[in-house]
Amino acid sequence: MTQQSDSERLSSFVLGLYGEDPYAHVYRASEEHREAHGSECEVYPSSPLSMRLVSLLIRATAAKRILEIGCGLGYSALHLAAAADPDGSVDTIDRFPEHVSLALENVSAAGFSQRIRILQGEGDNVLPTLSGSYDLVYDDGWFVQEPAYLETMLDLIRPGGLLVMSNWFPLQDAVLGHSDVDWSGFSDPDWADRIQAYARKLAAHPQISISFVLRPWLGLAVKTA
Ligand SMILES: C[S@@+](CC[C@H](N)C(=O)[O-])C[C@H]1O[C@@H](n2cnc3c(N)ncnc32)[C@H](O)[C@@H]1O
Ligand SMILES: [Zn+2]
Repeated sequence: MTQQSDSERLSSFVLGLYGEDPYAHVYRASEEHREAHGSECEVYPSSPLSMRLVSLLIRATAAKRILEIGCGLGYSALHLAAAADPDGSVDTIDRFPEHVSLALENVSAAGFSQRIRILQGEGDNVLPTLSGSYDLVYDDGWFVQEPAYLETMLDLIRPGGLLVMSNWFPLQDAVLGHSDVDWSGFSDPDWADRIQAYARKLAAHPQISISFVLRPWLGLAVKTA
């Protein structure tokens, strides 16, 4: 039997308090898909702990118009849509056509076809085509370094709207200077400087006020201007 780490035991206990994850099957399918798709695949489904917190933020702010960058197979998009008002909607983007078609199946099976719109393409290209403003943006596309779409993404958030960024966990390795994983494969040898530079840039950005949550790792920002 595999020994669970302290962190895994804690997460299991807390997740157990919340009851069954209605989209656990999509989480599992995402993990299986990544193994089959090959090394270019980046479908790492969001942590269920993060989705619980983001869902609470959606409910607390009554967010209706939600944008996600990085759809994968739709695990997080389903949570975002389920937490939003019944007349709320989620636009979500993924670069791989095979992710889009699998996500469409998952979204349809969950009965959310009318409320989740999946757009295929690069975030850098798709974001400038979107209009209006969003109550909440969930950025699950960036990794280790500042995405080229940062300013376009910020422009799409309404004043008072929220930006939620997953994937901040390598910041711990960057700051502490040791890591079990070589994150340079996702960026370059300067990845540790790049992720810290991105954190500093966001903290000083005049359009947002940010707070980093260390467990589950999230960057939460409210648009101030
Ligand atoms: C970490 S996975 C997230 C999956 C999903 N949000 C979930 O929780 O199940 C990132 C996904 O975003 C896509 N992606 C990453 N960067 C992107 C970009 N710049 N433009 C479009 N898609 C992107 C990848 O193909 C991958 O499917
Ligand atoms: Zn894939």
